[in-house]
Amino acid sequence: MKIRKLAALALAVATCWCAGATGLVPLPVSVRETKSLFRFGSAATVYVLDPQLKPLADYLAGYLTPARVVRPQGDLYKRLELTGYISLGLLPEGDTLPAEGYRLRVLPEAVVIEGRDYAGVFNGIQTLLQLLPPRALAGNFPVSGVCLSGLEITDYPRFSYRGMMLDVARTFVPIEDVMRFIDNLSHHKINRFHWHLSDDEGWRVEIKSCPELARVGGFRGGDSPVWPIYGHWDEKYGGYYTQEEIARTVEYARVRNVEIIPEIDLPGHSRTAGKVYPEILCANPRVNTAQTAGYDRRNVWCATREENYALLDKILGEVCALFPSEYIHIGGDEVEMDQWSDCPHCKAKMEAEGWTDGIRLEGYFMARVTEILARYGKRPAVWNEAMEGGGLDPGARVHGWENRKAGLEAAAAGYRTVLMPNEYFYFDMKQSPLEPGLTWAGVVSAEKNYSFDPAREGFTAAQMECVEGVEATFWSELYASQEHDYLDYQTYPRICSLSEVAWTPQPRRDWADFSRRLSTAHLARLEALGIRYRTPPHTTPVRRITPQVSFSSSIRESTSNPYSNIERYRHYARTAVSCRPGDWFLYSFAAPVDCRSIELITGYDFLPRGIVTRGRVEVSYDGVRFERAGVLEKGRITVRPSAPVRALRIVSECTGNGETHVILYPPRVEPR
Ligand code: ACM
Ligand code: ZN
Repeated sequence: MKIRKLAALALAVATCWCAGATGLVPLPVSVRETKSLFRFGSAATVYVLDPQLKPLADYLAGYLTPARVVRPQGDLYKRLELTGYISLGLLPEGDTLPAEGYRLRVLPEAVVIEGRDYAGVFNGIQTLLQLLPPRALAGNFPVSGVCLSGLEITDYPRFSYRGMMLDVARTFVPIEDVMRFIDNLSHHKINRFHWHLSDDEGWRVEIKSCPELARVGGFRGGDSPVWPIYGHWDEKYGGYYTQEEIARTVEYARVRNVEIIPEIDLPGHSRTAGKVYPEILCANPRVNTAQTAGYDRRNVWCATREENYALLDKILGEVCALFPSEYIHIGGDEVEMDQWSDCPHCKAKMEAEGWTDGIRLEGYFMARVTEILARYGKRPAVWNEAMEGGGLDPGARVHGWENRKAGLEAAAAGYRTVLMPNEYFYFDMKQSPLEPGLTWAGVVSAEKNYSFDPAREGFTAAQMECVEGVEATFWSELYASQEHDYLDYQTYPRICSLSEVAWTPQPRRDWADFSRRLSTAHLARLEALGIRYRTPPHTTPVRRITPQVSFSSSIRESTSNPYSNIERYRHYARTAVSCRPGDWFLYSFAAPVDCRSIELITGYDFLPRGIVTRGRVEVSYDGVRFERAGVLEKGRITVRPSAPVRALRIVSECTGNGETHVILYPPRVEPR
């Protein structure tokens, strides 16, 4: 008898999950453990105490099985007197919890989630899902007999804007993956998805009144006027989102408390739009395509062509109708002003206004586009450069990306401000020096991101009021040349870190504690969500030798990065113009090099731009006769020589590479 009781007890313990709140991400404002224990019955009953919460009850029920959603009528709720249920309700009017806040109580008879608003209930549900075993996040988690230890959580966000940007222009991300990305953000209480829908290399949103924009501009290569880059060549690739897909995604995000803010990047970063509608570009009599083997790289909307504003009215009118967000992001970054100063019409406008700098013309352009948005009931969100032209609408939201000062200046000028200095928030940067990623903003580890505290940036109290929050970015130049899971790899666990920068009160934040929660609890949740997150690589440094080499080419060198960089095994070298068929690059060794392999790299390391997009490679063992060694793949080749090598030669078979130059690295020679 005694043994049977013990066995029953052991079984009960085995089905209990009493992990408590020790592994929550982001860490809540306040957690109090109590002595009580909650146990699910044979099913999860979710009570909806307010009709607007029904979608959230259905959402929660999707994670639990068996589950039923009950909307109590009259006093049915009281009469049922159930135990083991979850209730979703709103806090009474007058409760002082901030917007998006919630209280979650694990009581003996029920789990009670009360939100300040819909968003608060959603956030409470996310915390509840993290109180369950990690596999609950995979959905259909069998609840029967599962226990939770008693808790009282009071929680609300530090910032109202908790954002993540995804660039789908450089690399198209299929709609199902975008939805999955949004879902994963929402599990981290990130509530803004900034969708970068257009850029020089792609247009991704269907505009019914201008169908060519997406139908033509959504693809690069093949018969598209948009040249293929990023390592793909002679291959048509890309995609775009139909308006129906976008509407579905907006609704999907809304249920998950994620507002989508679309971006149409203007007036620069618009090469694709200019390829589809060349008339929108400046009437530039001096387009110089000699450097680019004939490819016209202009990418700025003419600021004085009146028809451009009519076209933008059509485009933005559709964008505004598609997205319910108060703000529409209209770009404003990195405008190549010389395209305006070379345009007779833009030049005349500047002279007439007495503007000596193109930035004032950008101010004019942004004001015109802001007027268009206003007609559709929207405000502009912009990159910080758009402030510099003067006259930016006081209702604009400024994204301070260039450096830390940019956010300070925006808040000092009284703009709603989102902080995202690249050195902390650009998740396209490397996570450690030996991993893939860009480096121009430095190495952005999760720890570096975590260390960002807006309150230490030097804002006055009044300026801090203007800071709506923080945002990280994933720019996708590299994604096109990487494996499918690169997006997950680059963004997780950095998004976990971002979630605490955005949500958790600073005094509660501690990197060591976050790392512990990440490794002991949260990575298992990412696993359950199917996220191919990054684990630190085990890299052994590669041994290399640097035999004396001389370098020459049929193309002249640039002055900034001369060919001597290659001979000195320094950094990359850069040509002065792009490559044409028959152009060659010769690496001659002073003495025969006996080695296991030699890797030749064209294009930036980890960024397949500036490559010789098509070319053959020849090897010489006597310095006179050359034989074929292979072809470049995405600008690279590893030659495994059969004898000591005297020289290697790359012979271009392509007309240009969409760039003004070719990049070449010193040979990477692996000894025997
Ligand atoms: C940007 O990174 N050009 C906003
Ligand atoms: Zn112009």
